[in-house]
Amino acid sequence: MDIHICKTCGHLAFNGAPDSCPVCKMPKEHFEKNDNVFVDSKAKSPEADVKHVPSIKVVKTCGLIPEDTCTDVHVRIGEVLHPMTEGHLITFIDCYVNDEFSGRVMLSANSLNPAAAFHVKETSGKVRIVENCNLHGYWMAEVEI
Ligand SMILES: [Fe+2]
Repeated sequence: MDIHICKTCGHLAFNGAPDSCPVCKMPKEHFEKNDNVFVDSKAKSPEADVKHVPSIKVVKTCGLIPEDTCTDVHVRIGEVLHPMTEGHLITFIDCYVNDEFSGRVMLSANSLNPAAAFHVKETSGKVRIVENCNLHGYWMAEVEI
């Protein structure tokens, strides 16, 4: 997998380094190639899958936006829920639709569970979810919607 990491905000680009980061707007030079981010996380913590791999539920009928096409992508981090404490937390959940970056949910340990919902305009295609744990790195899952 071709992966570039933004050294400022941790965003992962999968189609080469972009001219500017879609999350923090830093220029291309702030990206560093590292094709092994997911492999490294898994290698460092081989038992950690169950608490880190995004668990994705697709809901075809959106209750919030019934007047337009909307596919709900509900994400929770971990089949066994990941902790959310000051010392160990999920810092963000990024969503990619058909290989394009679509949005980020930033999380803090104060009052949020490690979960997010994305309201996707597409009714078919591929959704990729990437999450970052402050201690255990990057984890990813993909789903066809
Ligand atoms: Fe973790």
